[in-house]
Amino acid sequence: MNKPIPWWSPQLAGTEQHLIAEVLASNYLNDGEVTSRFECEVAALVGAKHAVAVTSGTTALFLALAALGVGPGDEVIVPDITFIATANAVKLAGATPVLVDVDPLTLNICPRQIAEAITPRTKAIMPVHVSGRAADLPAIRRVAEAHNLFVVEDAAEALLSRLDGKCLGTIGAAGCLSFSPNKTITTGQGGMVLTNDDALHTRLRELKDHGRRGRGTGGDDVHHAVGFNFKLTNLQAAVGLAQLDALPERIERQKKIFSIYAVELADCEPITLPGFDLAAGEVPQWTDALVEDRDALVEFLEARQIFCRRFWFPLHTQTPYRATNDRFPNSTRLGPNALWLPSAFTLTDGDVLTVCRAVVEWAAQPSRSDSGAKAHRTMTPLPKRAIAKIAA
Ligand SMILES: Cc1ncc(COP(=O)(O)O)c(C=O)c1O
Repeated sequence: MNKPIPWWSPQLAGTEQHLIAEVLASNYLNDGEVTSRFECEVAALVGAKHAVAVTSGTTALFLALAALGVGPGDEVIVPDITFIATANAVKLAGATPVLVDVDPLTLNICPRQIAEAITPRTKAIMPVHVSGRAADLPAIRRVAEAHNLFVVEDAAEALLSRLDGKCLGTIGAAGCLSFSPNKTITTGQGGMVLTNDDALHTRLRELKDHGRRGRGTGGDDVHHAVGFNFKLTNLQAAVGLAQLDALPERIERQKKIFSIYAVELADCEPITLPGFDLAAGEVPQWTDALVEDRDALVEFLEARQIFCRRFWFPLHTQTPYRATNDRFPNSTRLGPNALWLPSAFTLTDGDVLTVCRAVVEWAAQPSRSDSGAKAHRTMTPLPKRAIAKIAA
Protein backbone atom coordinates (compact mmCIF):
# COMPACT_ATOMS: atom_id res chain seq x y z
CA MET A 1 0.00 0.00 0.00
CA ASN A 2 1.34 3.45 -0.93
CA LYS A 3 1.97 6.06 1.76
CA PRO A 4 -1.10 8.35 1.81
CA ILE A 5 -0.48 11.80 0.37
CA PRO A 6 -2.85 14.25 2.06
CA TRP A 7 -4.18 17.40 0.41
CA TRP A 8 -3.31 19.25 3.65
CA SER A 9 -1.86 18.47 7.06
CA PRO A 10 -1.47 20.93 9.95
CA GLN A 11 1.75 20.56 11.93
CA LEU A 12 3.11 21.69 15.27
CA ALA A 13 6.16 23.89 14.85
CA GLY A 14 7.84 22.45 17.96
CA THR A 15 7.75 25.23 20.56
CA GLU A 16 3.98 25.22 21.19
CA GLN A 17 4.14 23.12 24.35
CA HIS A 18 6.83 25.31 25.88
CA LEU A 19 4.94 28.54 25.14
CA ILE A 20 1.64 27.07 26.34
CA ALA A 21 3.35 25.91 29.56
CA GLU A 22 4.51 29.50 30.12
CA VAL A 23 0.94 30.76 29.72
CA LEU A 24 -0.35 28.11 32.12
CA ALA A 25 2.35 29.03 34.65
CA SER A 26 1.38 32.71 34.36
CA ASN A 27 -2.20 31.80 35.34
CA TYR A 28 -3.45 34.38 32.78
CA LEU A 29 -5.20 32.34 30.14
CA ASN A 30 -7.39 35.12 28.77
CA ASP A 31 -6.58 37.50 25.89
CA GLY A 32 -3.51 39.19 27.35
CA GLU A 33 0.16 39.95 26.79
CA VAL A 34 0.78 36.87 24.66
CA THR A 35 -2.13 37.81 22.40
CA SER A 36 -0.69 41.33 22.09
CA ARG A 37 2.70 39.87 21.15
CA PHE A 38 1.09 37.69 18.52
CA GLU A 39 -0.74 40.75 17.12
CA CYS A 40 2.48 42.80 17.05
CA GLU A 41 4.49 40.05 15.36
CA VAL A 42 1.90 39.47 12.64
CA ALA A 43 1.48 43.23 12.07
CA ALA A 44 5.27 43.65 11.71
CA LEU A 45 5.52 40.66 9.40
CA VAL A 46 2.84 41.85 6.96
CA GLY A 47 3.59 45.55 7.31
CA ALA A 48 0.25 46.59 8.83
CA LYS A 49 -0.03 49.39 11.39
CA HIS A 50 -2.54 47.46 13.50
CA ALA A 51 -3.57 43.83 13.92
CA VAL A 52 -6.51 42.76 16.08
CA ALA A 53 -6.64 39.07 17.00
CA VAL A 54 -10.10 37.50 17.13
CA THR A 55 -11.72 34.09 17.39
CA SER A 56 -11.82 33.21 13.68
CA GLY A 57 -11.49 34.47 10.13
CA THR A 58 -15.29 34.70 10.00
CA THR A 59 -15.44 36.99 13.03
CA ALA A 60 -12.56 39.02 11.59
CA LEU A 61 -14.62 39.64 8.43
CA PHE A 62 -17.72 40.48 10.47
CA LEU A 63 -15.81 42.86 12.76
CA ALA A 64 -14.17 44.63 9.83
CA LEU A 65 -17.57 45.27 8.23
CA ALA A 66 -19.21 46.29 11.50
CA ALA A 67 -16.31 48.62 12.36
CA LEU A 68 -16.74 50.30 8.98
CA GLY A 69 -20.41 50.87 9.79
CA VAL A 70 -21.78 48.29 7.35
CA GLY A 71 -25.13 46.99 8.57
CA PRO A 72 -28.81 46.44 7.80
CA GLY A 73 -29.94 47.90 4.48
CA ASP A 74 -26.40 47.81 3.04
CA GLU A 75 -25.08 45.57 0.31
CA VAL A 76 -21.62 44.03 0.15
CA ILE A 77 -20.21 42.58 -3.05
CA VAL A 78 -18.58 39.16 -2.69
CA PRO A 79 -17.32 36.59 -5.20
CA ASP A 80 -19.47 33.60 -6.11
CA ILE A 81 -16.49 31.29 -5.61
CA THR A 82 -15.25 31.45 -2.04
CA PHE A 83 -15.65 29.65 1.25
CA ILE A 84 -19.18 30.47 2.42
CA ALA A 85 -17.81 32.36 5.46
CA THR A 86 -17.27 35.42 3.25
CA ALA A 87 -20.99 35.79 2.57
CA ASN A 88 -22.03 34.60 6.02
CA ALA A 89 -19.96 37.36 7.64
CA VAL A 90 -21.94 39.91 5.60
CA LYS A 91 -25.15 38.33 6.90
CA LEU A 92 -23.84 38.46 10.47
CA ALA A 93 -23.33 42.20 10.02
CA GLY A 94 -27.01 42.42 8.99
CA ALA A 95 -26.15 43.40 5.41
CA THR A 96 -26.91 41.63 2.14
CA PRO A 97 -24.19 39.80 0.18
CA VAL A 98 -24.39 40.46 -3.55
CA LEU A 99 -22.69 37.69 -5.49
CA VAL A 100 -20.54 38.45 -8.50
CA ASP A 101 -19.01 36.05 -11.02
CA VAL A 102 -15.30 35.25 -11.08
CA ASP A 103 -12.55 35.76 -13.61
CA PRO A 104 -11.98 32.47 -15.48
CA LEU A 105 -8.19 32.86 -15.43
CA THR A 106 -7.71 33.56 -11.73
CA LEU A 107 -10.91 32.25 -10.07
CA ASN A 108 -10.98 35.60 -8.22
CA ILE A 109 -13.79 38.17 -8.33
CA CYS A 110 -14.16 39.89 -11.69
CA PRO A 111 -13.75 43.72 -11.33
CA ARG A 112 -15.86 44.46 -14.43
CA GLN A 113 -18.78 42.56 -12.98
CA ILE A 114 -18.36 44.35 -9.64
CA ALA A 115 -19.04 47.65 -11.39
CA GLU A 116 -22.25 46.20 -12.85
CA ALA A 117 -23.47 44.97 -9.44
CA ILE A 118 -23.17 48.32 -7.65
CA THR A 119 -26.43 49.89 -6.45
CA PRO A 120 -27.14 52.92 -4.23
CA ARG A 121 -27.09 50.49 -1.27
CA THR A 122 -23.61 49.09 -1.93
CA LYS A 123 -21.25 49.89 0.95
CA ALA A 124 -18.28 47.57 0.47
CA ILE A 125 -16.50 45.14 -1.80
CA MET A 126 -15.01 42.02 -0.26
CA PRO A 127 -12.50 40.45 -2.69
CA VAL A 128 -11.12 37.04 -1.73
CA HIS A 129 -7.54 36.05 -2.58
CA VAL A 130 -8.37 32.46 -3.48
CA SER A 131 -5.57 30.01 -2.58
CA GLY A 132 -3.30 33.02 -1.95
CA ARG A 133 -3.63 34.43 -5.49
CA ALA A 134 -4.11 38.19 -5.45
CA ALA A 135 -7.47 39.49 -6.56
CA ASP A 136 -7.18 42.38 -9.02
CA LEU A 137 -6.96 45.00 -6.26
CA PRO A 138 -5.82 47.91 -8.47
CA ALA A 139 -8.97 47.55 -10.60
CA ILE A 140 -11.17 46.85 -7.57
CA ARG A 141 -9.86 49.91 -5.76
CA ARG A 142 -10.53 52.07 -8.81
CA VAL A 143 -14.17 50.91 -8.83
CA ALA A 144 -14.39 51.37 -5.04
CA GLU A 145 -12.97 54.88 -5.17
CA ALA A 146 -15.29 55.89 -8.01
CA HIS A 147 -18.31 54.80 -5.93
CA ASN A 148 -17.03 55.66 -2.45
CA LEU A 149 -16.99 52.03 -1.26
CA PHE A 150 -14.83 50.27 1.31
CA VAL A 151 -12.60 47.39 0.26
CA VAL A 152 -12.35 44.65 2.90
CA GLU A 153 -9.87 42.01 1.78
CA ASP A 154 -10.66 38.42 2.64
CA ALA A 155 -7.03 37.35 2.97
CA ALA A 156 -7.89 34.19 4.92
CA GLU A 157 -5.81 32.16 2.45
CA ALA A 158 -3.15 34.74 1.74
CA LEU A 159 -0.85 35.23 4.72
CA LEU A 160 2.36 36.92 3.48
CA SER A 161 1.30 36.71 -0.16
CA ARG A 162 2.19 39.96 -1.93
CA LEU A 163 0.93 42.23 -4.66
CA ASP A 164 3.02 45.18 -5.86
CA GLY A 165 5.32 44.73 -2.88
CA LYS A 166 2.55 44.89 -0.27
CA CYS A 167 1.13 42.00 1.70
CA LEU A 168 -2.41 41.03 0.85
CA GLY A 169 -4.72 42.09 3.64
CA THR A 170 -2.92 45.43 4.08
CA ILE A 171 -4.13 47.14 0.91
CA GLY A 172 -7.87 47.69 1.51
CA ALA A 173 -9.46 49.59 4.41
CA ALA A 174 -9.13 46.34 6.35
CA GLY A 175 -7.91 42.81 5.66
CA CYS A 176 -8.77 39.58 7.41
CA LEU A 177 -6.66 36.50 8.13
CA SER A 178 -7.71 33.04 9.31
CA PHE A 179 -5.72 30.68 11.52
CA SER A 180 -7.98 27.64 11.11
CA PRO A 181 -6.20 24.28 10.77
CA ASN A 182 -5.91 24.27 6.98
CA LYS A 183 -4.05 27.59 6.88
CA THR A 184 -0.29 28.06 6.79
CA ILE A 185 -0.25 28.83 10.49
CA THR A 186 -2.99 27.74 12.85
CA THR A 187 -4.16 28.52 16.37
CA GLY A 188 -6.81 25.78 16.20
CA GLN A 189 -9.35 28.47 15.38
CA GLY A 190 -8.50 32.14 15.18
CA GLY A 191 -8.29 35.15 12.95
CA MET A 192 -6.99 38.69 12.69
CA VAL A 193 -8.10 42.02 11.28
CA LEU A 194 -5.36 44.16 9.74
CA THR A 195 -5.69 47.89 9.21
CA ASN A 196 -3.54 51.00 8.82
CA ASP A 197 -6.34 53.28 10.03
CA ASP A 198 -6.12 54.42 13.68
CA ALA A 199 -9.83 55.23 14.05
CA LEU A 200 -10.85 51.91 12.55
CA HIS A 201 -8.44 50.16 14.90
CA THR A 202 -10.15 51.78 17.89
CA ARG A 203 -13.57 50.67 16.60
CA LEU A 204 -12.27 47.12 16.08
CA ARG A 205 -10.98 46.97 19.67
CA GLU A 206 -14.32 48.22 20.99
CA LEU A 207 -16.32 45.75 18.94
CA LYS A 208 -14.03 42.88 19.86
CA ASP A 209 -14.41 43.43 23.59
CA HIS A 210 -17.75 44.87 24.72
CA GLY A 211 -16.95 48.44 23.86
CA ARG A 212 -13.75 48.58 25.93
CA ARG A 213 -10.75 50.25 24.29
CA GLY A 214 -8.16 48.67 26.53
CA ARG A 215 -7.96 45.47 28.52
CA GLY A 216 -10.80 45.42 31.07
CA THR A 217 -11.25 44.22 34.61
CA GLY A 218 -14.79 42.91 34.16
CA GLY A 219 -15.84 45.46 36.77
CA ASP A 220 -15.75 49.22 36.64
CA ASP A 221 -14.65 49.42 33.00
CA VAL A 222 -15.71 52.21 30.66
CA HIS A 223 -17.75 50.75 27.78
CA HIS A 224 -17.63 53.28 24.95
CA ALA A 225 -19.95 51.41 22.63
CA VAL A 226 -21.86 48.21 22.13
CA GLY A 227 -19.43 45.39 21.50
CA PHE A 228 -19.06 41.64 21.77
CA ASN A 229 -16.59 39.02 22.93
CA PHE A 230 -14.27 37.89 20.14
CA LYS A 231 -11.10 37.64 22.21
CA LEU A 232 -8.29 35.27 21.23
CA THR A 233 -6.79 33.77 24.37
CA ASN A 234 -3.15 33.76 25.44
CA LEU A 235 -3.25 29.98 25.05
CA GLN A 236 -4.22 30.23 21.39
CA ALA A 237 -1.79 33.08 20.80
CA ALA A 238 1.02 30.96 22.28
CA VAL A 239 0.31 28.38 19.58
CA GLY A 240 0.25 31.16 16.98
CA LEU A 241 3.62 32.54 18.09
CA ALA A 242 5.18 29.10 17.90
CA GLN A 243 3.71 28.59 14.43
CA LEU A 244 5.16 31.90 13.23
CA ASP A 245 8.65 30.47 13.74
CA ALA A 246 7.92 27.89 11.08
CA LEU A 247 6.26 30.31 8.65
CA PRO A 248 9.23 31.21 6.40
CA GLU A 249 10.10 27.55 5.88
CA ARG A 250 6.46 26.63 5.18
CA ILE A 251 6.13 29.38 2.62
CA GLU A 252 9.25 28.24 0.82
CA ARG A 253 7.81 24.70 0.71
CA GLN A 254 4.51 25.95 -0.67
CA LYS A 255 6.30 27.80 -3.45
CA LYS A 256 8.43 24.77 -4.25
CA ILE A 257 5.44 22.42 -4.27
CA PHE A 258 3.60 24.70 -6.68
CA SER A 259 6.70 25.07 -8.89
CA ILE A 260 7.03 21.30 -9.22
CA TYR A 261 3.38 20.98 -10.22
CA ALA A 262 3.75 23.86 -12.69
CA VAL A 263 6.73 22.29 -14.43
CA GLU A 264 5.64 18.64 -14.34
CA LEU A 265 2.04 19.29 -15.42
CA ALA A 266 2.75 22.02 -17.98
CA ASP A 267 2.24 19.62 -20.90
CA CYS A 268 -0.51 17.55 -19.30
CA GLU A 269 -3.36 18.60 -21.57
CA PRO A 270 -6.44 17.96 -19.38
CA ILE A 271 -5.20 19.88 -16.34
CA THR A 272 -4.63 23.63 -16.05
CA LEU A 273 -3.07 25.45 -13.13
CA PRO A 274 -4.46 28.97 -12.74
CA GLY A 275 -0.93 29.75 -11.56
CA PHE A 276 0.81 32.17 -9.25
CA ASP A 277 3.20 35.02 -9.88
CA LEU A 278 5.93 33.82 -7.52
CA ALA A 279 8.35 36.47 -8.74
CA ALA A 280 5.90 39.16 -7.61
CA GLY A 281 5.64 37.56 -4.18
CA GLU A 282 2.42 35.59 -4.49
CA VAL A 283 2.36 32.62 -2.14
CA PRO A 284 0.39 29.53 -3.16
CA GLN A 285 -1.12 28.48 0.13
CA TRP A 286 -2.74 25.68 -1.85
CA THR A 287 -2.15 24.67 -5.48
CA ASP A 288 -5.44 24.81 -7.32
CA ALA A 289 -6.15 23.26 -10.71
CA LEU A 290 -8.89 23.00 -13.32
CA VAL A 291 -9.70 19.64 -14.88
CA GLU A 292 -12.62 18.91 -17.14
CA ASP A 293 -13.51 15.52 -15.63
CA ARG A 294 -12.37 16.44 -12.15
CA ASP A 295 -14.29 13.81 -10.22
CA ALA A 296 -12.79 11.00 -12.30
CA LEU A 297 -9.32 12.34 -11.53
CA VAL A 298 -10.10 12.68 -7.81
CA GLU A 299 -11.31 9.06 -7.68
CA PHE A 300 -8.32 7.80 -9.69
CA LEU A 301 -5.95 9.52 -7.28
CA GLU A 302 -7.84 8.41 -4.17
CA ALA A 303 -7.49 4.80 -5.28
CA ARG A 304 -3.74 5.47 -5.12
CA GLN A 305 -3.96 7.08 -1.66
CA ILE A 306 -3.51 10.56 -3.09
CA PHE A 307 -6.03 13.03 -1.71
CA CYS A 308 -7.22 16.23 -3.34
CA ARG A 309 -9.93 18.61 -2.17
CA ARG A 310 -12.78 19.57 -4.47
CA PHE A 311 -13.54 23.30 -4.73
CA TRP A 312 -16.45 24.88 -2.91
CA PHE A 313 -19.77 24.79 -4.70
CA PRO A 314 -20.42 28.27 -6.16
CA LEU A 315 -22.33 30.23 -3.51
CA HIS A 316 -25.28 30.83 -5.84
CA THR A 317 -25.94 27.07 -5.79
CA GLN A 318 -26.05 26.89 -1.96
CA THR A 319 -29.46 27.10 -0.25
CA PRO A 320 -28.95 30.44 1.61
CA TYR A 321 -27.71 32.26 -1.49
CA ARG A 322 -29.55 30.45 -4.28
CA ALA A 323 -29.74 32.23 -7.66
CA THR A 324 -29.99 31.14 -11.27
CA ASN A 325 -26.86 30.16 -13.19
CA ASP A 326 -27.22 32.76 -15.93
CA ARG A 327 -25.50 35.55 -13.96
CA PHE A 328 -22.56 33.28 -13.14
CA PRO A 329 -21.32 31.63 -16.34
CA ASN A 330 -17.72 31.33 -15.16
CA SER A 331 -18.30 29.98 -11.66
CA THR A 332 -21.01 27.65 -12.99
CA ARG A 333 -18.60 26.22 -15.56
CA LEU A 334 -15.38 26.26 -13.56
CA GLY A 335 -16.60 25.38 -10.04
CA PRO A 336 -17.25 21.71 -10.88
CA ASN A 337 -13.84 21.52 -12.62
CA ALA A 338 -11.79 22.98 -9.81
CA LEU A 339 -9.82 21.17 -7.14
CA TRP A 340 -6.81 21.58 -4.90
CA LEU A 341 -3.94 19.19 -5.54
CA PRO A 342 -2.14 17.88 -2.46
CA SER A 343 -0.67 21.09 -1.01
CA ALA A 344 0.48 20.23 2.51
CA PHE A 345 3.79 21.93 3.36
CA THR A 346 4.81 18.59 4.83
CA LEU A 347 4.99 16.99 1.36
CA THR A 348 8.42 16.10 0.03
CA ASP A 349 9.46 16.80 -3.55
CA GLY A 350 9.13 13.04 -4.06
CA ASP A 351 5.51 13.13 -2.87
CA VAL A 352 4.68 15.92 -5.30
CA LEU A 353 6.38 14.05 -8.16
CA THR A 354 4.34 10.96 -7.24
CA VAL A 355 1.17 13.05 -7.57
CA CYS A 356 2.32 14.46 -10.91
CA ARG A 357 3.13 11.00 -12.27
CA ALA A 358 -0.31 9.75 -11.22
CA VAL A 359 -2.04 12.73 -12.86
CA VAL A 360 -0.10 12.14 -16.09
CA GLU A 361 -0.96 8.43 -15.94
CA TRP A 362 -4.65 9.30 -15.51
CA ALA A 363 -4.52 11.74 -18.41
CA ALA A 364 -2.96 9.10 -20.69
CA GLN A 365 -5.54 6.38 -20.00
CA PRO A 366 -7.04 5.20 -23.31
CA SER A 367 -10.45 4.83 -21.58
CA ARG A 368 -10.55 8.57 -20.87
CA SER A 369 -10.93 9.43 -24.53
CA ASP A 370 -14.06 7.29 -25.03
CA SER A 371 -15.92 7.97 -21.78
CA GLY A 372 -16.16 11.05 -19.57
CA ALA A 373 -13.53 13.07 -21.33
CA LYS A 374 -15.39 12.85 -24.65
CA ALA A 375 -18.55 14.31 -23.15
CA HIS A 376 -16.56 17.26 -21.87
CA ARG A 377 -14.94 17.96 -25.22
CA THR A 378 -18.13 19.80 -26.17
CA MET A 379 -17.36 22.40 -23.48
CA THR A 380 -15.42 25.54 -24.22
CA PRO A 381 -11.80 24.62 -23.44
CA LEU A 382 -10.55 25.72 -20.05
CA PRO A 383 -8.11 28.61 -20.20
CA LYS A 384 -4.36 28.00 -19.93
CA ARG A 385 -2.61 30.74 -17.96
CA ALA A 386 0.79 31.90 -19.18
CA ILE A 387 3.29 29.31 -18.03
CA ALA A 388 6.04 31.95 -17.97
CA LYS A 389 4.28 33.57 -15.02
CA ILE A 390 4.16 30.31 -13.12
CA ALA A 391 7.73 29.12 -13.52
CA ALA A 392 9.56 31.51 -11.22
C1 LIG B 1 -11.71 32.55 1.83
C2 LIG B 1 -12.05 32.31 3.27
N1 LIG B 1 -12.76 33.22 3.92
C3 LIG B 1 -13.08 33.08 5.22
C4 LIG B 1 -12.71 31.96 5.92
C5 LIG B 1 -13.17 31.80 7.33
O1 LIG B 1 -12.15 31.64 8.25
P1 LIG B 1 -12.43 30.82 9.60
O2 LIG B 1 -12.62 29.39 9.22
O3 LIG B 1 -11.19 31.07 10.39
O4 LIG B 1 -13.63 31.41 10.23
C6 LIG B 1 -11.94 30.98 5.28
C7 LIG B 1 -11.47 29.80 6.02
O5 LIG B 1 -11.61 28.69 5.79
C8 LIG B 1 -11.62 31.14 3.91
O6 LIG B 1 -10.92 30.21 3.25
